[in-house]
Amino acid sequence: AKILVLHGPNLNLLGTREPEVYGRTTLAEIDAGLAAAAGAAGHALACFQSNAEHALIDRVQAAREEGVAWILINPAAFTHTSIALRDALAGVAIPFIEVHLSNVHAREAFRHRSVLSDIAAGVIVGLGVDSYRLGLQAILARLASDPS
Ligand code: DQA
Repeated sequence: AKILVLHGPNLNLLGTREPEVYGRTTLAEIDAGLAAAAGAAGHALACFQSNAEHALIDRVQAAREEGVAWILINPAAFTHTSIALRDALAGVAIPFIEVHLSNVHAREAFRHRSVLSDIAAGVIVGLGVDSYRLGLQAILARLASDPS
């Protein structure tokens, strides 16, 4: 199956961006690890990062045309603001898992609310790069039990 990984704004800076909050692993390293794990399970994984809301929305819309089965998304700051991204994910009706590197609930109040979580299949927060790894594992397990 096809799996799409989406990264929102400023995640291109991972590795150097507030490393005490987000760690020192780069986005390229995260993507490579996810692609390897998906490939080992026989699935195709594509990754896309953008700082632009419209580009993420366009990528979500394209995913439906491509037959993407699952989306793993760290919406970054758009988590807290983007009704448009929420509507795109709801519109394509592709199941998705929302992940965050940091524990958003231990941070500023404006990070406590997600406009996506209630329509996500699941949410993983606060485990650094493991948030992505565990999110992908959950997707792989679901694909294994329902390969359609
Ligand atoms: C984040 C948390 C968001 O609040 C923040 O805006 C980010 C990254 C995380 O992965 O911890 O950019 O999604």
